[in-house]
Amino acid sequence: MPTYDLIVIGAGPGGYVCAIRAAQLGLKVACVEGRDTLGGTCLNVGCIPSKALLHASHMLHETHENFAKMGLMDAHVNVDWTRMQGYKADTVGTNTKGIEFLFKKNKIDWIKGWAEIEAPGKVRVGDTTYETKNIVIASGSEPSSLKGVTVDNEGGVVVDSTGALALPGIPKSMVVIGAGVIGLELGSVYARLGAEVTVVEFLDVITPGMDGEVQKQFQRILAKQGLKFVLGAAVSGVTVENGTAKVAYTLRKDNSEHSIEAATVLVATGRRPYVTGLGLDKLGVEMTDRGFVKVDPHWQTSLPGIYAIGDAVPGPMLAHKAEDEGMAVAEVIAGKHGHVNYGVIPGVIYTTPEVASVGMTEEMAKESGRKIKVGKFPFMGNARAKALFQADGFVKMIADADTDRVLGCHIIGPNAGEMIHEVCVAMEFGASAQDIALTCHAHPTCSEAVREAALALGDGAIHV
Ligand code: FAD
Ligand code: NAI
Repeated sequence: MPTYDLIVIGAGPGGYVCAIRAAQLGLKVACVEGRDTLGGTCLNVGCIPSKALLHASHMLHETHENFAKMGLMDAHVNVDWTRMQGYKADTVGTNTKGIEFLFKKNKIDWIKGWAEIEAPGKVRVGDTTYETKNIVIASGSEPSSLKGVTVDNEGGVVVDSTGALALPGIPKSMVVIGAGVIGLELGSVYARLGAEVTVVEFLDVITPGMDGEVQKQFQRILAKQGLKFVLGAAVSGVTVENGTAKVAYTLRKDNSEHSIEAATVLVATGRRPYVTGLGLDKLGVEMTDRGFVKVDPHWQTSLPGIYAIGDAVPGPMLAHKAEDEGMAVAEVIAGKHGHVNYGVIPGVIYTTPEVASVGMTEEMAKESGRKIKVGKFPFMGNARAKALFQADGFVKMIADADTDRVLGCHIIGPNAGEMIHEVCVAMEFGASAQDIALTCHAHPTCSEAVREAALALGDGAIHV
């Protein structure tokens, strides 16, 4: 039985990236994964399948909404749901196989099964106990449950995100509980595919935590696309009768009780860390009051030699945050200086238009007590966005009024998820808004709107 330098538990974006980096740094590495395929939530039932369905349904929307406007006539496109699911499965399959290839290339042992940590340095999988100098917990997260709601993904009526990615057919109507990232991405998918989608949200805003102006504009755009919103509504339960679901909710402003029926209900009210079966309680590993594994600034848990990263630890539940922590903790274990800049982690919602943000919202920047300035540029002034029929959004940049240093940026518009990265790089370098404003941007690109927002923070944008 080999003794490892590192055993990683979980092969999601946190775990597999950690394993690869550690192997590149010369460590002898194994990764334990209980699923049949590598890649974790993200590749199997998260980022990748959802983006495949978002892409396919966006294409359909384009044929319906915009083809004729461009003189592309008579495009009668029918949806073959089985083939669309096949495209999704192929996209997932090539990516999960890709990780298997990378494991072989980097000589990482994939230990198949569910891991339990017996003690620091000892990981049990089935009947075998493996010895290792270090352990990284990268066990990820699972959908949180909602009181009064029983999810049955097999049944296809009341589902969580995993069930919603593989419904037996396109429902006529869908109620989404929770106007967060999952609810709006998957709600958009089914709205474009023809379902009548109503989003029921507890708070009075969608996408809590986002910049307020972005929230409002995003809701307006989604409403134009046909999504209905019931905000300020506390869901009290879901019942299913004859294959139809009834969602009961109370409007918080006046305590009035209501209900709404739908063929499918998607419960998307957040995710919680998944640490079941790891034996952390027996070991006495300290947890936060919300059930995350507590770690120090080097991702070490309360037990030396046991580290934790990704969705299992506090912070945004994002694949790229997990990946960054995976690389950084591998470097720490290899005796190097791993680092993650938590101030510069972008967040993207892959609807059409996309919504992307990094750094402080205007609300956060004001609360921080700084003097700030805000530069905004609407995509109406951007030629490329107009040609794409996506000129409803804007770029909003926030900078320190005294130093001009960029504090945050929020984009709602075409390819926002790609564009945000120039601001991320600028922020990593501690750039000023003027640095972005003085950088030549190719024309005609949507990225020009980022520069214009930076120009708006100085002597003024040009195309407004
Ligand atoms: P996970 O990806 O959850 O992987 C953990 C792995 O550990 C799992 O495969 C699990 O089987 C395994 N495991 C757990 N316990 C054990 C054990 N005891 N033994 C062996 N194996 C174990 N994030 C983005 O950044 N962009 C997106 O577009 C995006 N889209 C998403 C869409 C959906 C529908 C969902 C649900 C999530 C999405 N996310 C997205 C979030 C993203 O998937 C997670 O943040 C990311 O997967 C976290 O990575 P991780 O490595 O921490 O954990
Ligand atoms: P979320 O935290 O983004 O949103 C949950 C929403 O549900 C919130 O708006 C919340 O106010 C609402 N809610 C909670 N309880 C409710 C109730 N009882 N009734 C009505 N509304 C209620 O969580 P979500 O969308 O489930 O996503 C989970 C995680 O997955 C997120 O943290 C996100 O980062 C990640 N993810 C990221 C994606 C991306 O980066 N594009 C895509 C999908 C998921």
